[in-house]
Amino acid sequence: PVEMNRFLLNGELRRWEGPMQEVFSPVCVRNGTDLSRKMIGRFPVMTEGDALAALAAAVEAYDSGRGKWPTMPVAARIECIQEFAWRMKEKRGEVVRLLMWEIGKSLKDSEKEFDRTVDYIIDTIDALKELDRVSSRFVVQQGIIGQIRRSPLGVTLCMGPYNYPLNETFTTLIPALIMGNTVLLKPPRHGILLFSPLLGAFHESFPPGVVNTLFGAGRTITPPLMSSGKVDVLAFIGSSKAADALQKEHPKMHRLRSVLGLEAKNPAIILPDADLDMSVEECLVGSLSFNGQRCTAIKIIFVHQSIAEKFVTSFAKAITALTYGMPWEPGVVITPLPEPGKPEYLSGLVADARRHGASVANEGGGSVRETFFYPALLYPVTAQMRIYTEEQFGPVIPVLPFSDISDPIEYITASEYGQQVSIFGHETTELANLIDPLVNQVSRVNINSQCQRGPDIFPFTGRKDSAVGTLSVSDALRAFSIRALVAARDS
Ligand code: G3H
Repeated sequence: PVEMNRFLLNGELRRWEGPMQEVFSPVCVRNGTDLSRKMIGRFPVMTEGDALAALAAAVEAYDSGRGKWPTMPVAARIECIQEFAWRMKEKRGEVVRLLMWEIGKSLKDSEKEFDRTVDYIIDTIDALKELDRVSSRFVVQQGIIGQIRRSPLGVTLCMGPYNYPLNETFTTLIPALIMGNTVLLKPPRHGILLFSPLLGAFHESFPPGVVNTLFGAGRTITPPLMSSGKVDVLAFIGSSKAADALQKEHPKMHRLRSVLGLEAKNPAIILPDADLDMSVEECLVGSLSFNGQRCTAIKIIFVHQSIAEKFVTSFAKAITALTYGMPWEPGVVITPLPEPGKPEYLSGLVADARRHGASVANEGGGSVRETFFYPALLYPVTAQMRIYTEEQFGPVIPVLPFSDISDPIEYITASEYGQQVSIFGHETTELANLIDPLVNQVSRVNINSQCQRGPDIFPFTGRKDSAVGTLSVSDALRAFSIRALVAARDS
């Protein structure tokens, strides 16, 4: 087991002497006749006092004056980030192993998450060089010489989600840091141990107080931080409810900059002339990668009624062919779910849909083990069912037949969410006519391809309850800074 008994505070890698909490893997082990989650490590359970000490360190590092992190030349900050990326790369094996054990992500996807995160750091450095070049220009207007600079915002609380504990945390952490903000880093509850091998890299690469780590229960740690009014930026990826609660703790919400990646219910629309095999393949990957635990997953499928039966038959067959097993097994797609209670929640959604008349196309196609959930394809789904609006964040796929394209469009318009949509079809004019109305409701329209975040240089955002601010390499730099002005009389 990983004994995570250190934490980073004000430039010191301190030993934790307080209470620890055990981490249980979604991977189960047999103990006699019992099958139970394997204990894989322990992490510190920090208190309100620990949170406030970290906050004081981050505030001091931000306010500490000339030549320190926020006012350091861009080139010097870039060097620190580069050094961090280099040290982080040395920990690839350990981090990937912990990703598999902690959240049940397959080896292939865990490696991809790690490599993609390192690439994101490198791309962020390149984007900052470009932004700095453009921002350092002087402008003369009406007798005033102005220099518009990109300036940091202050103390940033970074909180990532369990499904991409490394990548999504770092896609806010790195831009926040590189722009000169100081950071309180609070990893997610599932996906926390993998920060243990990285603590040394943070410690060696950044000046004191620039990165401070917080481990423990969010409900203990975050209220004192937010209610202090000293957190300037909330960088949070997770549920809309948790984001609302965090923001409401701040005594002056108007002063808080929020960069949020929240929930989504991304639809796929299959038009009558769509290539059936390709649509099935894209929807399969789009809805079931990492067991559907992605904010970008396809979470509801509208199929034209003329091809709906065929689509469902073919989709169910494709699901039956999926390999499931332990994250390290070759070719595995369906792996154990990290959230306790998730299989029961998903079963509840399936039972509710069945009660309202849906059939479960492929149920029973495999044996179900404790933390596994065998993908369930529900058809035909109606508006009365919970799965119609709830974000399942798991391997349950609702399919609805439609006769008129206005049905899926009305669904998207009425939805609380607005992240992405995928449309599948052949006739170019029909596809083109759909793009404009859709792109005004969601933030990304995918044509003949699944919903996804990448490539990571593309803007990543959402409308309504799906996001606040834009995360991509260059947009994120803007999200974590303001355009400040130095103006002088041209005499
Ligand atoms: O959960 C949201 C992730 O950012 C999704 O990223 O589409 O590349 O899997 P992805």
